[in-house]
Amino acid sequence: MRLFVANWKMNMTRREARVYAEELSERIGDGRPGVELAVAPPYTALEAARDPRGRWSLAAQNVASEAEGAFTGEVSARMLAEAGCRYVIVGHSERRRIFGEGGPTLARKLSCVRQEGLVPIYCVGETEEERDSGLGAEVLRRQVETLSGVPRDAVLLVAYEPVWAIGTGNAATPEAVNGACQELSRLLSGRTRLRILYGGSVTPSNAEEILERCGVQGFLIGGASLKAATFAAIAGI
Ligand code: PGA
Repeated sequence: MRLFVANWKMNMTRREARVYAEELSERIGDGRPGVELAVAPPYTALEAARDPRGRWSLAAQNVASEAEGAFTGEVSARMLAEAGCRYVIVGHSERRRIFGEGGPTLARKLSCVRQEGLVPIYCVGETEEERDSGLGAEVLRRQVETLSGVPRDAVLLVAYEPVWAIGTGNAATPEAVNGACQELSRLLSGRTRLRILYGGSVTPSNAEEILERCGVQGFLIGGASLKAATFAAIAGI
């Protein structure tokens, strides 16, 4: 089963989300076997982006690192579960880089997500500088360490998202994705319910090749997911 996740980031009002959901609904009809879709809207548009027929699931873009309490501005895993989410993106490079989230915080988020029966989409990936200094594999190893508290038989999604490929129009080559996937499979060997996704400038024109030539089982899609038709095209629908 391939998984395609639309990461809207900080885009889309509730009204825009409703229009998108209608368009996506028309486009996908009864869906396509072997293809699973998820939409990750901002918190405020979760309800508006929901499919009453359940043909796509909801993902949250972030979650609090604590279960509940005096944390102004935060949204807990329990709230997300109740709002109908199935997946939660944890450790997106924008969260790491702009909001300073690191290993200990992310490990707590993963624990909160699991406690509520949600499935984490844990993002990893090196910066351009790290890649150019030959540190790519070392960065992945360090970021994967954060998963040590996640039981080996837990359902887990790991998205390889090289920072230099995100929002740049410069997707990683199939060879680079392949190399990273092999490294991740090695680092995470023994995890039976693991799926590896790729993210970073995925479009309808490069999706097929990456899916065919790399060991990925789906995509995390930012910019190109903001139009329902383009998102569906990437998913081959
Ligand atoms: P992009 O974003 O598809 O716009 O490169 C991917 C992501 O940040 O998940």
